[in-house]
Amino acid sequence: MADAAEPQASPVSTLELKQAADYSKDGADTCLGCHDEDSAFPVLSIFKTKHGSRTDPHSPLAQYQCESCHGPVGEHGKKRLRKGENREAMITFTRGNEIPVAEKNAICSSCHEQLDKRHWAGSSHQTGEVACSDCHKIHVKEDPIRLKQLQVQVCGSCHQAEKLASKRFSTHPLEYGQMGCTDCHSPHGSNADKLLVADTINDTCFGCHAEKRGPFAWEHEPASENCALCHNPHGSNQPAMLTQKVPFLCQNCHSSAGHPSLAQDSSRLSTPYASSSALLLGRSCTNCHSSIHGSNHPSGSRFQR
Ligand code: HEC
Ligand code: HEC
Ligand code: HEC
Ligand code: HEC
Ligand code: HEC
Ligand code: HEC
Ligand code: HEC
Ligand code: HEC
Ligand code: HEC
Ligand code: HEC
Repeated sequence: MADAAEPQASPVSTLELKQAADYSKDGADTCLGCHDEDSAFPVLSIFKTKHGSRTDPHSPLAQYQCESCHGPVGEHGKKRLRKGENREAMITFTRGNEIPVAEKNAICSSCHEQLDKRHWAGSSHQTGEVACSDCHKIHVKEDPIRLKQLQVQVCGSCHQAEKLASKRFSTHPLEYGQMGCTDCHSPHGSNADKLLVADTINDTCFGCHAEKRGPFAWEHEPASENCALCHNPHGSNQPAMLTQKVPFLCQNCHSSAGHPSLAQDSSRLSTPYASSSALLLGRSCTNCHSSIHGSNHPSGSRFQR
């Protein structure tokens, strides 16, 4: 182990420096003498996961066992320490320690190289220095991030804005396990912006809202272009996850004077447009323009049918 005065050796080079002889002879049994379910950090649940499989030759348990991830035990397992002596450190994955993220991830990727090859390299989580172990828990029977109903909490621990949005009036059913963040995002990377599961925002939505795909005889340009122009998929305080209330939403783009597309208020009842205003009282644009996502009706050019 490096002298205290020397710069911290990186774990991977430590791994390379340590010889095969530094791995324990008895594998996990060596560790379990001191680490068990009653330890400050309970470790045994790993045996209920795929990493604890004795039959899969690729699993850690079939290889260096605990040391496949934590590195060779070396002097760490020494029974008695001299006064003032520190226990030799193991590789740890806990967030906030000084081991570089890339080196922690290299340990996971040494077995999960397929995943690495697919999209991980260059993805925003990789370049954003997120460790595999920031998302995945290894020493639990069920990894929380893989349970859809917990993703709001787990992903949301870093993505506060999206977590807050999921508590608003109108949301996708993210809280009950029907849907998770991973229905729309690929956490390991994707071909699309924002880690989306499909190539575009609209294709992502069409995966479940196929009826909005069209083709329509009369397309409403923004709907064919980008659903997120009008909807916040993470949730909003307007009905139907709209980014703004109707008519204001529509008036971002439509503001022709004279037509009811102007915001309505009681003052307009006495204007020359009084009749149309009266018609509009208490109504919204979508009461008349109801096929707002596009229309296949022969006379649906104004999305009224
Ligand atoms: C003789 C007892 C003993 C044995 C054997 C032992 N450990 Fe530890 N280990 C400890 C103690 C005590 C700590 C707490 C660290 C400290 O306070 O020094 C620890 C801490 C750790 C940590 C936290 C990181 C660190 O370095 O502090 C990891 C990871 C770890 N041990 C893994 C293992 C693995 C894997 C094995 C088997 C290959 C193993 N230990 C064998 C006693 C032991
Ligand atoms: C010694 C090889 C090895 C190492 C090192 C390793 N894994 Fe695995 N991992 C496996 C095997 C084998 C499986 C089971 C694959 C399967 O059945 O498809 C697995 C499965 C998984 C799964 C899916 C579990 C499930 O229930 O389906 C996750 C998540 C995972 N590993 C994450 C990690 C992370 C994070 C690290 C680094 C901290 C890591 N692995 C290190 C070999 C390894
Ligand atoms: C941003 C969080 C996050 C990060 C970072 C992350 N994962 Fe995952 N991982 C997930 C989620 C969520 C799933 C479940 C995906 C699903 O159900 O669609 C998953 C699934 C897996 C699986 C099992 C399914 C599969 O795709 O093979 C393995 C293995 C895995 N991850 C390994 C890793 C490794 C190795 C790393 C680091 C290189 C890593 N993960 C980084 C969130 C993450
Ligand atoms: C697949 C990789 C992997 C294997 C195999 C593995 N661990 Fe871990 N271990 C981790 C990760 C990642 C963490 C961080 C906490 C978590 O994700 O659960 C961790 C956390 C720990 C900790 C707490 C360390 C700290 O930072 O305080 C101890 C102690 C520990 N493991 C011991 C063991 C023992 C003993 C074994 C064998 C029975 C073992 N580990 C097998 C990946 C692994
Ligand atoms: C129904 C699909 C959907 C679900 C579910 C979803 N997202 Fe998104 N997310 C999107 C879309 C679409 C974008 C891109 C929006 C844009 O670019 O206007 C996005 C963007 C993001 C961004 C980038 C924001 C930015 O400003 O760049 C983050 C972070 C994010 N989502 C996290 C999450 C988290 C965390 C969850 C789960 C709580 C989640 N998302 C659930 C569709 C979804
Ligand atoms: C440990 C913190 C952490 C966790 C947990 C986490 N993320 Fe991230 N996420 C990040 C960081 C860091 C970035 C890069 C942000 C940046 O560059 O602004 C990011 C970026 C993103 C982006 C935006 C991608 C882009 O290209 O702009 C999306 C979408 C996202 N994460 C979704 C998720 C989802 C879904 C989960 C859960 C499965 C998750 N994240 C879990 C830290 C995290
Ligand atoms: C994995 C499937 C899935 C995906 C992908 C998906 N949705 Fe949804 N969406 C749902 C479900 C389920 C509901 C709730 C339906 C219900 O409550 O009747 C819903 C409801 C909605 C609602 C109506 C909410 C309300 O309060 O009436 C809107 C708007 C919506 N989604 C927009 C989008 C947009 C935009 C995207 C793409 C960014 C998208 N959805 C992607 C499954 C999905
Ligand atoms: C021009 C703004 C706009 C765009 C762009 C838009 N929507 Fe909507 N969407 C609305 C409005 C307004 C409502 C509420 C309709 C109402 O009040 O009856 C709505 C309602 C919905 C609903 C719930 C009610 C229903 O009709 O099923 C879903 C689901 C939905 N939109 C999905 C989508 C998808 C998917 C896209 C992208 C293809 C999209 N929207 C693009 C304005 C828009
Ligand atoms: C992001 C900008 C945008 C938003 C928001 C938007 N539209 Fe549009 N809308 C357009 C564009 C672009 C066209 C096609 C260009 C044109 O013909 O003027 C269009 C066309 C229309 C048409 C047909 C116009 C015609 O002349 O044939 C109607 C009706 C319409 N929109 C109603 C609405 C309503 C109602 C809302 C609110 C629910 C809305 N729009 C929100 C951009 C938008
Ligand atoms: C009472 C029913 C009604 C309401 C409410 C209504 N419209 Fe219309 N809108 C129409 C009719 C009818 C037409 C077709 C006029 C024509 O063909 O000359 C039309 C046409 C349009 C057009 C096409 C361009 C134009 O001026 O002819 C746009 C854009 C439009 N409406 C937007 C809106 C917006 C935005 C709102 C909400 C602020 C809204 N409408 C509310 C009935 C309505």
